[in-house]
Amino acid sequence: MYCENLGVRGLASKFGTPLYVYSAKTILDHFLKLKSAFSSLNPLICYSVKANSNLSLLKLLTSKGSGLDIVSGGELYRAKRIKCPAKKIVYASVGKTDKEIRDAINYGILMFNIESKPELERVNKISEELKKTTKVALRFNPDVVPGTHAYITTGKKETKFGMDEVEVKRIFASHDKYPSLNIVGIHMHIGSQIIKGAPFVKTFKKANRVIRELKSKGAKLEYLNVGGGMGIVYDKERPQTAKEFAKKVLPLLKQSGLKVILEPGRFIVGNAGILVTKVIYLKETASKNFIIVDAAMNDLARPSLYGAYHKIVSLTKGSNKRVAKSADIVGPICESGDFLGKGRKIKAKAGDYIAVLGAGAYGFSMSSNYNSRPRVAEVLVKNGRTYLIRKRENYSDLIKGELII
Ligand code: LLP
Repeated sequence: MYCENLGVRGLASKFGTPLYVYSAKTILDHFLKLKSAFSSLNPLICYSVKANSNLSLLKLLTSKGSGLDIVSGGELYRAKRIKCPAKKIVYASVGKTDKEIRDAINYGILMFNIESKPELERVNKISEELKKTTKVALRFNPDVVPGTHAYITTGKKETKFGMDEVEVKRIFASHDKYPSLNIVGIHMHIGSQIIKGAPFVKTFKKANRVIRELKSKGAKLEYLNVGGGMGIVYDKERPQTAKEFAKKVLPLLKQSGLKVILEPGRFIVGNAGILVTKVIYLKETASKNFIIVDAAMNDLARPSLYGAYHKIVSLTKGSNKRVAKSADIVGPICESGDFLGKGRKIKAKAGDYIAVLGAGAYGFSMSSNYNSRPRVAEVLVKNGRTYLIRKRENYSDLIKGELII
């Protein structure tokens, strides 16, 4: 297996395992595919930092004109560290704290995506204290079924996200109550890993109706932020391509007459990264076979958390073709929920490397130190060279900040 022109096995032996490996070319290719599919709208693409927040990846994307979609003070800090232009930053999240709001206003971000009335009031108050006028978009919860895992469904009315149509209209009608705010946009994000166009079409139609009504009542709207959510291939999915997606939604987005913002995360980085791991033991029991590897649920939580499927392949030549017994691929963590794949047929022996595919999004960014496991290293292949973009943690990193009393 190669990442661009470099053998992955070589990278694993050089940098050790577990190891995240990303391809800069693939990341940029995805970004440019989306950009060109939507070029007739010239949208602002704000890469969703949460998908993979490594500074080098943020820099790579912003150097090509991407903005950033952030959800916390920590992500704002990252954005500042790579000097992302403030006017290309949008900030969502249902629980922004006063400090986070203040820091974002002081940095001069483009706008906040507001998720509730109390939050709107808070941003107004803080803006007033800072003697600033702040741009905001209201996050509209369209109550649509995106057809994805329940945990990553966000546009249904029973989820904690956004506001329903009635609330959105009520707020616009009373915008005088918020003298330090400029309510300039509508924001939506209905969920993640959505492989069909229909839920988006339904959402944008609803949004257009709301926008028309608001405009007719004098609302001065400038932006329509349609969030992220475009699905990718993990297994046998046939997700829409950027072009197909654009074809379906462009007419609707144009109808809105507003500047469009996109917040893609997974689409950009998901299939631009893999997690390489090494087989520690093969364990055979009366009822099951296990391939025990050095990566675990703390390194890649998606299989355990969502039952997500990631393709897993051996990096030993010919191993994927040879007949193998079905085995669960598991990590060393003390939970039965710690698995990377179940019932896989991979011929492997202790010491072999295997790769978990589609691990670029929500892989490292969701990793933890559970079981006191140092977080793994990340490397980026760019222009034929490998760059270490995050050092492997060591044991002293594990206890950094801890106090013995
Ligand atoms: N915008 C907002 C407001 C979001 O909440 C998200 C993701 C995105 C954009 C980017 O969505 P994407 O294009 O990546 O689908 N950890 C889960 C995914 C959580 C998504 C959270 N929000 C997973 O591993 O599947």
